[in-house]
Amino acid sequence: METTLTILKPDSVGAGNAGKILAQLEGEGFKIRALKKLRLTETQARAFYEVHKERPFYEELVRFMTRGPVIPAVLERENAVVHLREVLGATDSTQAAEGTVRNLYGTDVQENAIHGSDSQENAALETAFFFSRAELLAAE
Ligand code: RTP
Ligand code: MG
Repeated sequence: METTLTILKPDSVGAGNAGKILAQLEGEGFKIRALKKLRLTETQARAFYEVHKERPFYEELVRFMTRGPVIPAVLERENAVVHLREVLGATDSTQAAEGTVRNLYGTDVQENAIHGSDSQENAALETAFFFSRAELLAAE
């Protein structure tokens, strides 16, 4: 079964929306295969979003992602990567379709509540960023 990596971002965790978002994801058929709560260091946030390091919003993104704790989780479902991206909605929360997580819990283009891997390859890399093989096995 396919898995993907999500992160509940500092805005949604700080607003007390983590439980509601996880319930919505479970309602979409995702099984939570692993989950933890942590505060990213600046170095970790820079590394996670390194693909965006030349973008104008990179510094602001690093500040946002380190301002409070996040909740990364591994989610399992058929077609997990594509389906999660559909459930998240557009990057800009104000453009996200009705009922999507970003429509319900996001604020704008940056404070958009949740991350989802954009390919199976990145899902594997991002899962390994947050969860060791031992942790994944221990969560089975
Ligand atoms: P994510 O990687 O977090 O799932 O989001 P995404 O694929 O929908 O969007 P991406 O282009 O990968 O951007 C990563 C995150 O950077 C912030 N962002 N800010 N100020 C801006 O114009 C801007 N654009 C993107 C958002 O937090 C976005 O999710
Ligand atoms: Mg992205």
